[in-house]
Order: sequence, then C-alpha cells, then structure tokens
Amino acid sequence: MRFDILTIFPQFIEENPYFKYSIIGRAINKKFIKVKAHDIRKYSKDKHKKVDDIPYGGGAGMVMTCQPIFDAIKAIKKQNKGPVIFLTPHGEKLTHEKAQKLAKKKGVILLCGRYEGVDQRVRDKLIDEEISIGDYVLTGGELPAMIVVDTITRLLPGVLHDDNSALEDSFTEKLEGKKEYPHYTRPEVYKKMKAPKILLSGNHAEIEKWRKAHLKV
Ligand code: ADE
Repeated sequence: MRFDILTIFPQFIEENPYFKYSIIGRAINKKFIKVKAHDIRKYSKDKHKKVDDIPYGGGAGMVMTCQPIFDAIKAIKKQNKGPVIFLTPHGEKLTHEKAQKLAKKKGVILLCGRYEGVDQRVRDKLIDEEISIGDYVLTGGELPAMIVVDTITRLLPGVLHDDNSALEDSFTEKLEGKKEYPHYTRPEVYKKMKAPKILLSGNHAEIEKWRKAHLKV
C-alpha cells in the first residue's frame, strides 16, 4: 500500500524515526507499504515559492493557496489512484472501522493542512474524505497523517508477526467492538499483586469466559 503525504514540512515525515524502527520501519523495509512525502512548496509557481496568502474578507492567520496543492495532487494521482484525504479537526473522527476500510485500498493521498486552513476550493474539488484524529486542534496535519499511516499499516496482512493479534485488538469484531480484556504475564505474583488464577489454569473455555466478562465497554 502506498501513502503519499503532501506537506510543507516533508522533513517531518522523512526524518521521523517512528517510520524507521519497529513495526512501521519493518513494514517499509519489507515493502508492505511505501511512504512518500511531497513538498507542496516545490509545486508553487510563485517566484518566492509562496504557498499561503491572507484570507479574503479579513481575519487572523493565513490560508493555503489552491495552485500548489492542485498541481501537487494532479502529479501524485498519476502514481496513486487512492482517495485524497485532508487531515482536519473538522473531519470525520478516525475509527478502527474507518482504518479497516482504508486498509483495503492500494493507496491513499494525505493532505496536511497548516495555518488557518486551505482554500475551500481545494476541499470542494480535490478532497474525497476529511479525517480528524480527535476534538482538539494541532499545529498541522502531519502528526494525524502519521497516525493514519500507523493504524492502517498494522492491519495489512503480514505486517504484524501474528496476523491474529490485529483481529483480537480493541474495537474489533471479535471483541464485539469493546476494549480489550486485561493482560498479565510473569511473574505470577509481583509486589503482592497476583495474576488471576484462572489465566494460569490452562482451561481455555474458562479463560475465554473470564476474558469476555472483563471486556471494557
Ligand atoms: N489538524 C489539526 N488538528 C487536527 C486534528 N485534530 N485532526 C486532524 N488534523 C488536524
């Protein structure tokens, strides 16, 4: 699966250690996914490579202009036929279900906003979906884009060592959309706190029952 990320700070993506190590790093090395950052500024036809301007009608902040984003998306669409997603606090809340739907695509194009936002004509003409990672405002869409990459990538077959672990996560069908049961590991007693006996019993039917009873809503 291919992720093309449009940003005015490509180094946030390219130099980000989160994509170099552990599960996502391995997914990239093993070519389960490709993550490519695109510098929106490079597409600007302005002689100073400007990508923003003051808002019509006045008001605080700057607005990202149409031209560099239209040209960047046009170029990227030649290689990535997936949906164009704009990361914004006004978008639809990111959920496990949404991640599963996106994980079925061959690629997605992620547009990261900065400043006050982007020209509405970008949203009207180019954007297929808008996603928010929560009801708070960040300085830009780069962290949300990385979160989208992370949650989709771990759902792709082969990315986790044990594909069952993604099936048994919180919010999955197997757990009826609930949060996971508590986990314990060795030692059996730590600082006088005991792991539940039933989990050490080897009785799988009883363990299943205990786990079901301890799911969080
Ligand atoms: N950009 C700024 N804040 C955001 C949020 N909460 N979700 C997605 N994109 C954002």
